[in-house]
Amino acid sequence: MEMSKLRVNGERLRTALEEMAGIGGTPGGGVHRLALSDEDKAARALFIKWLSELNLEVSVDEMGNIFGKRPGLENSLPPVMAGSHIDSQPFGGRFDGILGVMGALEVMRTVHENNIETHRPLVIVNWTNEEGSRFSPATMGSGVWASKLDLQWIYSRTDTSGKKFVEELDRIGFRGDVPAKAFPVRAYFEYHIEQGPILEKQDKDVGAPGGIVGITWMDVYLTGTANQVGPTPMEGRNDALCTAAEMILKIDQLPKKMGGNMVATVGEIHNSPNSRNIVPDGVHFTVDLRSWDDELANRAWDDARNDFEAIAARRGCSIRIEETWRVDHMPFDSKLVQLVLDNAEELGHSPLKMISGAGHDAGYMSMIAPTAMIFVPSIDGRSHVEVEDTTWEDCEAGANVLLHSMLKTAMDRN
Ligand code: GLV
Ligand code: MN
Ligand code: MN
Repeated sequence: MEMSKLRVNGERLRTALEEMAGIGGTPGGGVHRLALSDEDKAARALFIKWLSELNLEVSVDEMGNIFGKRPGLENSLPPVMAGSHIDSQPFGGRFDGILGVMGALEVMRTVHENNIETHRPLVIVNWTNEEGSRFSPATMGSGVWASKLDLQWIYSRTDTSGKKFVEELDRIGFRGDVPAKAFPVRAYFEYHIEQGPILEKQDKDVGAPGGIVGITWMDVYLTGTANQVGPTPMEGRNDALCTAAEMILKIDQLPKKMGGNMVATVGEIHNSPNSRNIVPDGVHFTVDLRSWDDELANRAWDDARNDFEAIAARRGCSIRIEETWRVDHMPFDSKLVQLVLDNAEELGHSPLKMISGAGHDAGYMSMIAPTAMIFVPSIDGRSHVEVEDTTWEDCEAGANVLLHSMLKTAMDRN
């Protein structure tokens, strides 16, 4: 068959996505498949079964990243790679991450059944713990693979119940023996839902981000004085939760105060002892700050830190701030981004060049290899929630853009 006529099988992609949605599926129609959980393990096993059916060369590295390689005619050339992540947010959606893994699988299935021979090898990948929700930071698998995060530090990270990353990786049987170290990659493509409202609002059906915003993650720990709430006067309290409340509002107001393009969020909080009749003495909360403008983000964080210190001092609480993660904005390869836009156009879609406000493994990949992403619309711009949705038609459309982006790059010897 003429290469330009080749199309993925949209029904087969849908079936794969639906089968995956059953692993960790929630009553609300979402997915709860946290990194290194039993659900993650089950989905990984199914993924590997599907890779093996295509006779791909499967390997698992010491981070639990899973690779499936299809040889090329010139097998020593750096491959064209595509993938995303199987893990989900707590009570998250059925498309975030898994669409990029199943989309790349559908490309492999299409290429396989049509006996296509590419010059370069093709590699499909599932990165470990993209979400960073159970174990922080996010995009751990790609971060270690790209030598941007330290393996031993990542192994030592714990979840809120004190379980260690490396022990959970061992428990699910996915600590492989291949070093988590990048090999040369000609191009990396990540297919993903947009997770925002822009494509829908602008009536476009394919997005090609020019890059990902910079992301800063802080963990703030406050210590106050616990006491019986009844007899303890309001005067002189060191209430860690009220201290946090003031700080959280500062974060909410920060983007407006700084001007420019920025979002800032406190999404996680732990209060101790968390009893209605004890003045709280221990709070841990997170700060997530994102902007394309790294300098603006740095100034914003300095401003917030000054406010935090003043609030803590006034309320008599001690404060400790840990910088858990910081990545500057991550521009993609302009030629590959253009290739995605052109392919979308050729396939009859209306593409949009945009920016990704969400983090992706493509961020770390862009630091070591030419990288681009393909977005499809999120209905009502909702994501990281159970109602996250994308039409099957759009899922198929994005997979076809991925197919042709991969094929054109893999046929190119340069
Ligand atoms: C990844 O899901 C992110 O936090 O953007
Ligand atoms: Mn994702
Ligand atoms: Mn996500």
